[in-house]
Amino acid sequence: MNRHFPVILWAFANLALFGCVPAPVPDYDMREAQPGGGMTAGRLSERTYIVPGQNLDNAQKLDYWTGFSLFRDPWVIAPSSTTDRDGLGPLFNTRSCISCHTAGGRGDVAIEGISKPSALVLRLGPEKDSAPLTEPNYGGQLQSRAIALAHSNMAAPLQPEGKLSLSYLEVARYQIDGVDYPLMQPQYQLVDLAYGELAEGIGLSPRLAPVIYGLGLLDAISDVDLLAQEDAQDSNEDGISGRYNRVPDAATGELALGRLGLKAKHPNLKQQIAAAFRDDIGITNTLFPNEACTEYQQDCRKLAESGGHESVEIPDKLLNLVLNFSAFMAVPPARNTQSEAFLKGRQSFYQSGCASCHTPSYRTDPGYPVTALAGQTIWPYTDLALHDMGALLADGVREHSATGTEWRTPPLWGIGLRSQYGQQQAYLHDGRATSLVEAILWHGGEAERSKQRFIALRTDERQALIRFLNSI
Ligand code: HEC
Ligand code: HEC
Repeated sequence: MNRHFPVILWAFANLALFGCVPAPVPDYDMREAQPGGGMTAGRLSERTYIVPGQNLDNAQKLDYWTGFSLFRDPWVIAPSSTTDRDGLGPLFNTRSCISCHTAGGRGDVAIEGISKPSALVLRLGPEKDSAPLTEPNYGGQLQSRAIALAHSNMAAPLQPEGKLSLSYLEVARYQIDGVDYPLMQPQYQLVDLAYGELAEGIGLSPRLAPVIYGLGLLDAISDVDLLAQEDAQDSNEDGISGRYNRVPDAATGELALGRLGLKAKHPNLKQQIAAAFRDDIGITNTLFPNEACTEYQQDCRKLAESGGHESVEIPDKLLNLVLNFSAFMAVPPARNTQSEAFLKGRQSFYQSGCASCHTPSYRTDPGYPVTALAGQTIWPYTDLALHDMGALLADGVREHSATGTEWRTPPLWGIGLRSQYGQQQAYLHDGRATSLVEAILWHGGEAERSKQRFIALRTDERQALIRFLNSI
């Protein structure tokens, strides 16, 4: 018998099962151990991601730590004795960035039952093309807290917008290697709505605060390199049609390629942070100078005018410090990269087609204006593109050109540290998956084939793949 016969048979079986042969596996590159290039750095303590990149100069490190204090300290109601830190609300979700991005990482999932969630943000957006872009009474996000002002001359205190009621429904169940994996889909409902029912055609998009390290590097990848992997029509017929969100740039008003946010709503890090200040904490800034009060929320508007700030609540100088804090946050080094399990898991990762969306590596733009971030070889495992992930993960809400079934591929660098640090295991856009295996089992739509390959792996290969994810 031809000694290649079994290999040929295996290749045909793959063709029949999955439509195409698995991706080639590139040779291991020593640089994979330092996924952030020169911006990689080990933790100062066991449980925090807050550490500046190694190749920053002293002035940049100073900016980093000053920016960190603005990220960490709670904002207070204006007017107060310190105009550098006041302006909270009138409507808001939490008082500080860090209360959602715990230790620079992910926030905690919302509790079951009725609550005012902190790290889980409920965005409000159109389910159909005919619906308005934001909810007319509530705006683009549900704010479950409001400032209480004893000295205001309003008849009644300002009403927070509403609360969340959360329950779970089992929508699928897998058995993998003798372990049961029920997929429990969160069911979101708004209760105690203070400004009337939501308008027709407006849906809820739940999002759990993601990790925020390494984003300066993702900001520094050139548009050209990203667009080179765009395949909106799936012309290579791999079942995957990554395309980029096209979004308005708040500074220029022009359309730009979206890359930050879970549906890639923002074209750059600065706009993402400015939007967080305004929508999550109620701090106006030069990019978003108006408070998140709608026409209908007159009390909110009145309070907004009584803050005593002549212009915006956070001036550009301070906003830029928070930007530098975010941009300069280091990527954790990879672990166990020399082990056999790492190399074996790495092979299964490529062969299962994970790398088609979780693009392993880039070289950041050598001409990027911040030298520490320029020309770095990095390993974030994301294409930053939008993918249809199937009905079970869909929120049904559009965000610019992102549809109700699409999400941006999240970076995977450092993902294994969550379990290592003893942090809550909560993966995917709303933190619904309680383990890495479960996160993969939720993959559908364009990622269905890849998931099926993961399920078809031998037990030892699958375990190695998870070890690989825990190491990168
Ligand atoms: C109420 C919780 C909350 C607060 C407060 C908050 N964030 Fe976020 N953050 C989120 C959520 C949720 C997302 C995902 C947003 C989306 O997809 O629209 C996010 C996204 C981000 C991102 C983009 C991450 C990525 O992968 O694209 C950055 C950067 C960020 N936040 C920084 C900040 C900074 C800086 C502050 C303080 C000014 C802040 N956040 C305050 C919840 C919060
Ligand atoms: C078609 C593109 C695509 C393919 C193929 C794909 N993924 Fe994903 N992956 C995504 C997207 C998009 C998300 C975010 C979905 C969400 O949040 O609802 C995601 C989320 C994840 C997460 C959770 C990340 C986090 O921070 O919560 C993990 C882990 C993951 N993928 C691993 C894998 C592995 C392993 C494979 C291969 C077996 C794979 N993915 C194949 C697009 C893809």
